[in-house]
Amino acid sequence: MIRKVYLKYLLDRLRKESFFSFFKYGYRYVFTYISFKTNRSFSGPIQGTLCLTYNCNLKCKMCDLPMRHLNYNNDPDLINLTLTEWKQIIDDFSKMSTSAIAISGGEPLLNHEVYSIIKYIKDSKMIAQMTSNGWFITPDVADKIILSQLDGISISIDAETEKVHDKIRGFKGSFKKAFEAIANLDDSRKKYKSDITISISTTFGKFNYNSMKSLIELAKTSATDRIGFIPVHNIAPLLNDDEMNMSRLETEEIFIKITELQNLAKEDNFIETSERYLQLFHDFFQGKPLPQKCMAGFTTLVVDCYGRIFPCFSFYEMEKSWGNIREFKKGLYSFWKSKEIQSKRKSINSCRDCYWNCQVETNLLYKW
Ligand SMILES: C[S@@+](CC[C@H](N)C(=O)[O-])C[C@H]1O[C@@H](n2cnc3c(N)ncnc32)[C@H](O)[C@@H]1O
Ligand code: SF4
Ligand code: SF4
Repeated sequence: MIRKVYLKYLLDRLRKESFFSFFKYGYRYVFTYISFKTNRSFSGPIQGTLCLTYNCNLKCKMCDLPMRHLNYNNDPDLINLTLTEWKQIIDDFSKMSTSAIAISGGEPLLNHEVYSIIKYIKDSKMIAQMTSNGWFITPDVADKIILSQLDGISISIDAETEKVHDKIRGFKGSFKKAFEAIANLDDSRKKYKSDITISISTTFGKFNYNSMKSLIELAKTSATDRIGFIPVHNIAPLLNDDEMNMSRLETEEIFIKITELQNLAKEDNFIETSERYLQLFHDFFQGKPLPQKCMAGFTTLVVDCYGRIFPCFSFYEMEKSWGNIREFKKGLYSFWKSKEIQSKRKSINSCRDCYWNCQVETNLLYKW
């Protein structure tokens, strides 16, 4: 997820580390590219994602993860990872020189091991970032998050009005709670002199595309440092509601709004989404496949709370697992190096199924 916020971490890290760090990060960049070109694993994933739970307190129109939580809960074959297993996975990412770990879900704060997991990522010297709907971030929880040394937190906010956000998120009061979360996190970061980045993550679709400018203005009046966008994907297998189908919207109006957003991103660093990624929104809303080769499975790897492994967040969303960590006695590292995975990676080369922000922004780094 090398968005502007990651570049900030990278620069901070380079400042704290020695001059030779430049070679280390350069080496990762080059070797990931060679791995992709030769379909070998000369280096580990740049970013790992840990999906700590499918459970969630909200019911967003575009997301079926809470429904899947109910189904999975009744499946005796699916057993939650223990804290010891999560730590083993983090050790493996560290062994593979992974730079950043993203924490997601469901709602990650519903896994009570979340603070220990963040702390362990930080003790392993990797960047830790989390995405949350903000509902549970009271002043006490904000203190715990800051004290865990998390580097960045994204709060998902989808509109500039309570009415639209709460409609998309399926729960009254979620807008208010999300902005309270930002204020509580800001109070804690001041109290503990933390340099955590607080950002807003916004889905862009038919319910809100015409109000992005006012959402950006509103975000600037809060303690948020940045805002990022992702087009709403019709990606959740348990949802087939027509109303939810927001990923094909060929109206002149939406293309005007995308161009407006691109122009804003050009001059405003508050917008973390790159202009090049926003340009692709035009293709996305015309229903075109992703117009670039995807490097998922080389640059990224996702593990869910049952130990299932996915090359990218979209495969996690689509329930397309590549295996289970528990099948690999020697852990994630042996999975990463295995022949089986090598052949699966090959198929990614032709996958054009999504425009998910973290993956496409990373792919764009390799598109000169
Ligand atoms: C799956 S959520 C998990 C974290 C947390 N529950 C939240 O909503 O922030 C991770 C991110 O994916 C976004 N998201 C969920 N469904 C999506 C979809 N169908 N298309 C694009 N983004 C989506 C959410 O808005 C959120 O920013
Ligand atoms: S997008 Fe996040 S908050 Fe919304 S239902 Fe899915 S997991 Fe929950
Ligand atoms: S295009 Fe999307 S779904 Fe396909 S491999 Fe890349 S990130 Fe995953």
